[in-house]
Amino acid sequence: MKVVGISGSARKDGNTAIMIKRVFEELEKEGIETELIQLAGKKIRGCLACMKCQENQDKRCSVDDDFNMCFEKMLQADGIILGSPTYFSDMTPEMKALIDRAGYVARANGDLLKRKAGAAVSVARRAGAIHTVDSMNHLFFISQMIVPGSNYWNLGIGREKGEVGADAEGMQTMRVLGENMAWLLKKIKG
Ligand SMILES: Cc1cc2nc3c(=O)[nH]c(=O)nc-3n(C[C@H](O)[C@H](O)[C@H](O)COP(=O)(O)O)c2cc1C
Repeated sequence: MKVVGISGSARKDGNTAIMIKRVFEELEKEGIETELIQLAGKKIRGCLACMKCQENQDKRCSVDDDFNMCFEKMLQADGIILGSPTYFSDMTPEMKALIDRAGYVARANGDLLKRKAGAAVSVARRAGAIHTVDSMNHLFFISQMIVPGSNYWNLGIGREKGEVGADAEGMQTMRVLGENMAWLLKKIKG
């Protein structure tokens, strides 16, 4: 079994990546393979609404950038973690571009993400992270994915790179999320 985590942060190895890696720790304890993809430095533009995905039905987006590599990893995985820092109370534009295109290509090809496990996590300096998490969850629900929870909303608090590691409650929330995602995956795949 495999889980791919995608960080939509503009900062490589920032707080979002730290949170995803904390979830990974629990998954790996249960023998689940993990892979982190960071959108920082990658090129992923927004959806062009060209509808080529519906015409071609080849499980790809016709735009030639880093999206198809990310989407292939999502398709190969049994679980997907989407992480984004909170920017103006929402996800980053890079994460929104990934979600719009993944959602459209998946639906154009017969719900390719159906019954994968999905979890969204966010980090903020102070406020807005819960809206960011809710926004990302929309992809999972409309894609017929199964979403595990934790014992608090899936968010952490931190501003400078690395600060979220000191948010004990946020890290604990990621630990419990990892435990629940592992449990769910075993039920789905068992
Ligand atoms: C453009 C921009 C907008 C931001 N907007 C918010 C916000 O609305 N609320 C908040 O609490 N923090 C906000 N932040 C702070 C980031 O969420 C915070 O620094 C976070 O830890 C960054 O995560 P990263 O290290 O994964 O990039 C913003 C940061 C940037 C660069």
